Amino acid sequence: MGYVPPESPMPRGSSQGFGWHRMGAGFRPAPRRYGEPRTPGEGELMVKRSYHTDEIVVHWDSELCIHTAICLNALPNVFDVQASPWITVEADSAEEIARAIEGCPTGALTYERTDGAPGEQTQAETTVIPWPNGPLMVRGNVEIRDATGELFTAGPRFTLCRCGASQNQPFCDLSHRRIQFHNNPRVVSADRETAQSPQDIDPRIGP
Ligand code: SF4
Ligand code: FES
Repeated sequence: MGYVPPESPMPRGSSQGFGWHRMGAGFRPAPRRYGEPRTPGEGELMVKRSYHTDEIVVHWDSELCIHTAICLNALPNVFDVQASPWITVEADSAEEIARAIEGCPTGALTYERTDGAPGEQTQAETTVIPWPNGPLMVRGNVEIRDATGELFTAGPRFTLCRCGASQNQPFCDLSHRRIQFHNNPRVVSADRETAQSPQDIDPRIGP
């Protein structure tokens, strides 16, 4: 049976949560490149779900969600993982829902206004914040490309893995907690402070 995408982020602390809790043997499907279909042969992604009113369409991408619970705390009447569907888009105004969505750090939540109101205003400058012991929080007009320049995806918000342990590269999947990743956001090595040339920084560089 092919992989069935989740209906929602699971409650924080759940043994079947959507973050690192589901790393147990036999639970997580085999890693694959971002953009490859969930179920071989279907030829298309199945990871986005959409929720509509006449004013707004809300999209949730399970591939990006790491269950930060920011949306749940911002608008618990709209975002509720105990409900089905987990997003009740009629439960608040389109303005409030849009504001809550823009707080989602991973880009898992996005929206379109279908009532003529302006959509999300992308931050003019691109910012990258190395989160202490966690991912890179990226905001701006962001394109994620592979080394050949091929576009994976684009959007206003992403949370990128900084620890190397994510099974959902290049995105964070909360594995930094599982491996107890510990790293300060800003570290300068002594070698760099005294370097006279690139050779002093990394002996593999140079002739
Ligand atoms: S704020 Fe975004 S990443 Fe966090 S639980 Fe909601 S959809 Fe997932
Ligand atoms: S930083 Fe979160 S999984 Fe690597």
